[in-house]
Amino acid sequence: MEKMSEKGFTIWFTGLSGAGKTTISKMVSEKLRERGRKVELLDGDIVRRNLSKGLGFSKEDRDINIRRIGFVCHLLSKNGVVAIAAAISPYESVRQENRKLISDYVEVHARCPIDVLKERDAKGLYKKALAGEIQNFTGVSDPYESPENPDVVCDSDKESPEESAAKVIIKLEELGYIESEKTASGYTKEEEEKVNERLKALGYL
Ligand SMILES: Nc1ncnc2c1ncn2[C@@H]1O[C@H](COP(=O)(O)OP(=O)(O)OP(=O)(O)O)[C@@H](O)[C@H]1O
Ligand SMILES: [Mg+2]
Repeated sequence: MEKMSEKGFTIWFTGLSGAGKTTISKMVSEKLRERGRKVELLDGDIVRRNLSKGLGFSKEDRDINIRRIGFVCHLLSKNGVVAIAAAISPYESVRQENRKLISDYVEVHARCPIDVLKERDAKGLYKKALAGEIQNFTGVSDPYESPENPDVVCDSDKESPEESAAKVIIKLEELGYIESEKTASGYTKEEEEKVNERLKALGYL
């Protein structure tokens, strides 16, 4: 019998550029490693420099990229690793394909209104896309299909990265992929963190 604590699964982050996929997925990776899990993070930016080098941003190439990441996540998670994908993955149909391929699949929508993202523009890409210097830019000149049934939604315009990461961990506990770690207060560490972040945002802490 496989011990529950060794069961692999995939966490799939989807969302517009700048919505928080890399930020949240790195935090979640850390939290899972602290719990002794083997974790592999497949970040869109890195994948496009090796596994998917040479692919562009047409629908066909984007779908190939997402299928490749999905296939690797499938291999990893069936061997006890927690595979985390953090790529825009704009199309619902190929996300569904991956969900079918990967039996233990948790989808996280890193969500943020496009106006906030244009303002945030951490990589300066929106400015370029809006000026027409980058073609096929998701959310500006290319479609983004919001996930129909995400397991977690992280609203990065309203939550802190810590709060978003805590939400993901709580969902993994609820789904039974990881064990919940109750503290003396009766809450899990992540529940406490989420409450504290909320209180901080409200000015109580
Ligand atoms: N709750 C939140 N979760 C994640 N990021 C947040 C949150 N609140 C604010 N941010 C900020 O939003 C930005 C998210 O950028 P990040 O690189 O993680 O996006 P991304 O989705 O990986 O984009 P890309 O598709 O271009 O790689 C960071 O500057 C981060 O500090
Ligand atoms: Mg990123």
